[in-house]
Amino acid sequence: MSDSGRDIVFDIFEKVLSRYSIFKNRDALRPDYIPDNLPHRSEQIQRLAFILAPSLKGSLPSNVFLYGKPGTGKTAVTQFVLSRLKMKAKEAGSILAISYINCRIAGTEYRVLASLCSSIDVDVPFTGLSKAEVFQRFRSGLERFGGILIVVLDEIDALVKIHGDDILYELTRIKESSSGRGGVSMIGISNDLQFKEFLDPRVLSSLSEEEILFRPYTADELYDILRERAEIAFNENVLSESALRLCAALAAAEHGDARRALDLLRVAGEIAERSSSQSVTDEHVRRAQEKIESDRVWEAIKTLPLHSRMILLAVYVNSKRNESKCFTGEVYEVYKELCEGLGLEPLTQRRISGLINELDAMGLLNSKLVSMGRYGRSKRVRLNIPASMILQLLKSDPYLSSLEGYVEKYWSKG
Ligand SMILES: Nc1ncnc2c1ncn2[C@@H]1O[C@H](COP(=O)(O)OP(=O)(O)OP(=O)(O)O)[C@@H](O)[C@H]1O
Ligand SMILES: [Mg+2]
Repeated sequence: MSDSGRDIVFDIFEKVLSRYSIFKNRDALRPDYIPDNLPHRSEQIQRLAFILAPSLKGSLPSNVFLYGKPGTGKTAVTQFVLSRLKMKAKEAGSILAISYINCRIAGTEYRVLASLCSSIDVDVPFTGLSKAEVFQRFRSGLERFGGILIVVLDEIDALVKIHGDDILYELTRIKESSSGRGGVSMIGISNDLQFKEFLDPRVLSSLSEEEILFRPYTADELYDILRERAEIAFNENVLSESALRLCAALAAAEHGDARRALDLLRVAGEIAERSSSQSVTDEHVRRAQEKIESDRVWEAIKTLPLHSRMILLAVYVNSKRNESKCFTGEVYEVYKELCEGLGLEPLTQRRISGLINELDAMGLLNSKLVSMGRYGRSKRVRLNIPASMILQLLKSDPYLSSLEGYVEKYWSKG
């Protein structure tokens, strides 16, 4: 009870109940929601459908490789086509099984193999068998099954980069040896083409019998995607046309990523809702962009190893201490001081240079080779994240937090 005798909790609940809600169906903006319509992907949908169709009549489809930047609809298109294939196969009585595996989530070769087995009702213990043994069970299970198994390896690069292409090699061989009694057909999906270099040429040519490219979406295409989704997700007249255009434009500027566009829309809606606004405006979209960006940076910082974190701290302290001298040499000196403060053995300057390059590639630092006249060239290093994140980093890391006083000395200076 509050002082006035009213129940504050009921007050809050009633306010929420009576408030005009922004969302009609928030779930429609979730990443795993697959809409009934995928604008601007009919070409990819049709090609994949044509490639897989023979499986309904018992013929083995070609393997196919789907590639394109993140958020370009590869997973959505695949799920879209497969769900319809499954329905048709049931109607037509085709002997067809589908095994969809996200390799990044599955994590290990063993788990990928176990998933393959379970899709044709072969039991495999959680651990304990050798890879060869599991594969043997899979092969005989496939014989018993006698139909076509469509294996989708989504984010296939995650599997290949860590474990090589053994499984892929075995799977492509099964395809060859099948004698009319079904077999395995593969759909590989990746947003990282570099992984092809990790593949045996035979595996590569077999996996890429067919290839489907997913181009980044343009701003206009993203707008169409967002508009259709917004109609399901938001109540009428809540979303301004210009906010929708802005989401599309911001996501297109990134790399035509529909996931990013949908995230922006969802977060903008949440921000609007929390500030009790009746509509979603450009301002909410801009704030959503900032929030997503800082969440992304923070995610990256959180997973950094200790010495990389210390480099960020050292770059920060050095930039406050001597604005004009932000070269790797000075950063290294500060880094050594920090190590001393923590009683740690510093890494060599060469190693630190390597870590600085990594941080640069991640976009957390900005490093640039500059000419020093007759003294040759030197690398200038700058922080590419807000200084407030440095404080957040210190406070969240129990190990580094003992340096807080040391770093805060420089705080007031900027
Ligand atoms: N043409 C489209 N119409 C409607 N929604 C789409 C379309 N393309 C993508 N989406 C949506 O955008 C999000 C990202 O798409 P998807 O997961 O298919 O990307 P992806 O290409 O698999 O990306 P990644 O390489 O990161 O796995 C999903 O929520 C998906 O539903
Ligand atoms: Mg995907």
